[in-house]
Amino acid sequence: MSKPNIQSVLNVEGLCQIVWTNGHLSDFQPLWLRDNCPCPICLHSDTRERILDIMDVDFTIELPTELYVTNDQLKITWQDGHESNFTAQWLMKNCYSDRARAERRPTPKLWGQEIINSLPEIEYADVMNSDEGLLNWLDKIVDYGFALIRNTPTVEGEVVRVAERVSYLRETNFGRDFDVISKINPNNVAYTALTLQSHTDLPNWELPPGTQFLHCLEFEADGGESTLVDGFKAARSLQKLSPSAYDFLKTQEIPFRFHDPDWDIRWSAPTINCDTDDNLREIRYHAALTAPLDIPADRVMPFYKAYRELTEVIRAPENILKIKLAKGDLLVFNNRRALHGRMSFDPNSGPRHLQGCYVDNDAILSKRRILQQKLG
Ligand code: OGA
Ligand code: ZN
Ligand code: ZN
Repeated sequence: MSKPNIQSVLNVEGLCQIVWTNGHLSDFQPLWLRDNCPCPICLHSDTRERILDIMDVDFTIELPTELYVTNDQLKITWQDGHESNFTAQWLMKNCYSDRARAERRPTPKLWGQEIINSLPEIEYADVMNSDEGLLNWLDKIVDYGFALIRNTPTVEGEVVRVAERVSYLRETNFGRDFDVISKINPNNVAYTALTLQSHTDLPNWELPPGTQFLHCLEFEADGGESTLVDGFKAARSLQKLSPSAYDFLKTQEIPFRFHDPDWDIRWSAPTINCDTDDNLREIRYHAALTAPLDIPADRVMPFYKAYRELTEVIRAPENILKIKLAKGDLLVFNNRRALHGRMSFDPNSGPRHLQGCYVDNDAILSKRRILQQKLG
């Protein structure tokens, strides 16, 4: 809602009730308003961090009987004489009514196999040479959970340069960046020529990497097509198909583990992760890294049942986007939402070389907000 204006403000049964010119209604608790006072005593004017100690505020603080708005500013003089001024725009932006909160919810665009006809893609030059191109790319990642960058120079290390357009990298036990090639003594199925079923990377970490970059440097081999599945769509489909399976996978933590001679990294988490409003936050799904189930005995079979139901959705052909990457393609995806995989390939038919790295989702979202503010 742009440029809101206040129509009236009243103390209604102790709440600050604002009626907006567009008909929207906001109710603010006095304690909430006092806690968010933007004056320099309460909010540090340089850092914009709160310095007010809420414990110094009376829990039952009350509003004055009369409330006034001048020049689109709500001015409140509290009983102890402290004065708080809120702009209309700030109040609208921070309104916590059900309707306003619903409007601020993230709205991922869910997709299936049909997205092959309208891939979220962008040219390398656009991403690298302009803020508008960079924002456009980040928007696609946020909306679809993936985006394909075309015509990336096929030189080693280019994937890192693109990732650093957003932020510093997220390092893992596989290094700052990594090469996906068929190796002699692999410590990871990705480093073979075998099929990789749909998965999310590093679910065995407390915080799995957020955004994954895979840059195709060489690809002459037969097979090896990439697969992507929208994990959020799969979760929502499961919720409709089998609400009990969805609820089970949302609450039951299962263990994940990666180990090689140098590392033994373990974490337990639910397969489907939501916030308290049931917005999807994360899918953790990787059969190869799921450790032997260490859960109460009566939950073992219900887990397998729910997990198979989810897996059926994930494997349904209409949910799988299949693309064969070409040299210069750089696939970027949200590793908390999109599941990725690849078909097996014949390593004797030619080389296949991808280079990858990760960036935290916080960095992606922060860069996007900063660019939105800059570009208006
Ligand atoms: C990976 C991976 C897919 C591929 O490295 O995490 O899943 O296409 N690779 O080789
Ligand atoms: Zn104040
Ligand atoms: Zn992977």
